Amino acid sequence: MDSEDIGVTVAAADPQARRPAGDDRDEEMDDARRAAERLVSQMTLDEKMGFVISYFPLISRRAKEYEMIPSSGFTPGLPRLGIPALTITDASLGVANTLNARVGDTATALPAALATGATFDVGLARSGGAMIGSEARAKGFNVMLAGGINLTRDPWCGRNFEYVGEDPLLSGRLGGAAVAGVQSNHIAATVKHFVLNAQETGRMILDARIDATDLRESDLLAFEIAIEIGKPASVMTGYNKINGDYAGEHGVLINEILKGDWGYPGWVMSDWGAVHSTEKAALAGLDQESGIELDWTLNGAIFFTDRLKDALAAGRVPEARLDDMVARILTGLIKVGALDFPLAEAPQPLPLEANAAVAQAVAEAGTVLLRNEGGVLPLAGDIARIAVIGGNADVGVLSGGGSSQVRSHGGAPIEKSLETGDAAWFCRETYHASSPLLALRERLPGADIRFDDGSDREAAARLAAASDVAVIFAVQWQTEAVDALTLALPGEQDALIEAVAAANPKTVVVLETGGPILMPWLERVAAILEAWYPGQRGGEAIARLLLGDANPSGRLPITFPATDDQAPRPKPAGLAELRARDAALAAGQEGVRIAPFPADYVEGANAGYRWYEMAGRSPLFPFGFGLSYTSFEHAGLAIAPGDKPQVLLDVTNIGARGGADVPQVYVRAPDRNGTETWRLAGFARVELAPGESRRVAIELDPRTYSNWDDQAGEWRHTATSPPLAVGRSATDFTLRGILPPG
Ligand code: BGC
Repeated sequence: MDSEDIGVTVAAADPQARRPAGDDRDEEMDDARRAAERLVSQMTLDEKMGFVISYFPLISRRAKEYEMIPSSGFTPGLPRLGIPALTITDASLGVANTLNARVGDTATALPAALATGATFDVGLARSGGAMIGSEARAKGFNVMLAGGINLTRDPWCGRNFEYVGEDPLLSGRLGGAAVAGVQSNHIAATVKHFVLNAQETGRMILDARIDATDLRESDLLAFEIAIEIGKPASVMTGYNKINGDYAGEHGVLINEILKGDWGYPGWVMSDWGAVHSTEKAALAGLDQESGIELDWTLNGAIFFTDRLKDALAAGRVPEARLDDMVARILTGLIKVGALDFPLAEAPQPLPLEANAAVAQAVAEAGTVLLRNEGGVLPLAGDIARIAVIGGNADVGVLSGGGSSQVRSHGGAPIEKSLETGDAAWFCRETYHASSPLLALRERLPGADIRFDDGSDREAAARLAAASDVAVIFAVQWQTEAVDALTLALPGEQDALIEAVAAANPKTVVVLETGGPILMPWLERVAAILEAWYPGQRGGEAIARLLLGDANPSGRLPITFPATDDQAPRPKPAGLAELRARDAALAAGQEGVRIAPFPADYVEGANAGYRWYEMAGRSPLFPFGFGLSYTSFEHAGLAIAPGDKPQVLLDVTNIGARGGADVPQVYVRAPDRNGTETWRLAGFARVELAPGESRRVAIELDPRTYSNWDDQAGEWRHTATSPPLAVGRSATDFTLRGILPPG
């Protein structure tokens, strides 16, 4: 997109304006919009103005006056018209309780969104969303900032754990299902961060640069699919600029694409502290300024209160735009049922056991078995001596930091504050109280299971040598606001793994990481389980997987590179500039600021596995990869063409254990420059008993193998009969065919 393309679109977007011909109008949504407009028509100017901001209760001076729940956001309601206050909580992994502001208020923690991505299971994604949404509602929230859809373009991004993965179809389908689940509780969900908010380093000042068509075919496609499936009441824009304009004042992205082309009828809120203008933002389509106190602190002004009122009075922003902003907020709320199903007066009890079971099911289905030499896993039930080493496995499992941090039931056995950096005030390295060690001991009461914390390599190796098997836990803490500077495991963990593996060939590595890490010890360990951040019942899930009570069936939603520099950007953009600033601040210089810097997405639409294919690089583990304790066969490929083509195949479990297979359909298509890559066009997750065979129909999304024609404003197939393959991963195909013209 060159910068001339990105002017602000002045007119308020008509939700139906640029809808594709023949698209069914959403009648229920039209009714909601009409009801919303009726409400707006009865409001005074000040009443309308009240809806286009939210306060940040954690620091708001009006917190007492409005009896705000200490959480992410609050917008007063309008009782005379039956409109409730907007009570806003984070996030995608459960009801957050930032800084434990609601002392003692715990919630059920889902595993990292990458774990949900790894399930390739829309049903589980929906269940997870439904569970966290029910807790939000029970705790008095009717807006949940849940729905991280950003593509994980860089393996080191600090927030990858909040996102589903690197592929638009996977991210869109699973993210959309999770959003639908949240909203099944008659509360609003929020897809975020619209769009291309792909690194944390300098997230408030960087300019993400990408070709407009490439954006349409990648990150925007993920949001498009998620919005179609999830019908979120709200969309949150990101912090950074995209091709020269801040996300929250980007007329092309908000007005033209989101509200125009996609006919999005709900509201667009800013991220917290991400607004930089009044007219430009309002006219570009931003409907609500979030957490105004943070804009005041970070950006020196509040933009949608007096300044907006002045702009309205002077005619610089038409009142119709204000009406539209409020109507959109109410449309979203009405559509999800937030007005018809008001929240209870007091917090409601939670079905803790049932909710934890949902989190555990996601952890078990989303854990990826990356290696299993000699069938070392599952561990035999009569195993006598097990060494459990490192990763604080005696007390719990790690979680990711930042606004998505859930304080889970059982408390936080470890909580470490950061000392410096942008994230220090709100990010703490936190463990959930679900100990893999205790879970193993409970399941194997006859075994001698000893723990070594790994701080002394030699002691750990001695314990490993004296055991039948060594299970070593390796952790990498990731958090909002900070990117990993290397993909190597932090601290001395690589050396610890080498020492333990040298002492016992039956070494099993369990990873709790926020994304890919490097594995220099790969060939020397027997098995590797990627458990991500496994959530409320992570310890129990890991124990069941190690013992074969559950069969690992996750597939990687993100490529694991073989080296630090294999992905498109070896390091976050702007790192040098930020380091120079930090050094200047440390040297006592005051008020040092750095200029915005670009982050160039040279891989364009070919994010993730497509980049590796295009660049001819072999990753450590490809997208879609994952082993199982059983094996599956694919046969009988048939392809039914049409608007929604279907791929049919027989999937057979040829092993001795039940398990789930994830057949993935890839179609080979050229990008706008003619570079061909395989692209994920459909997938299914199939649970099969030993020996069971099932014919599976997989629906393809033709957009995934089309190219976006910007001039015509539509998707176009570039190949008439593109090659098609069914695979176990993006690089391992079992069946091949041709997709006939529809
Ligand atoms: C994050 C959002 C979050 C918001 C409110 C921001 O720092 O980027 O994802 O929803 O804070 O807590």
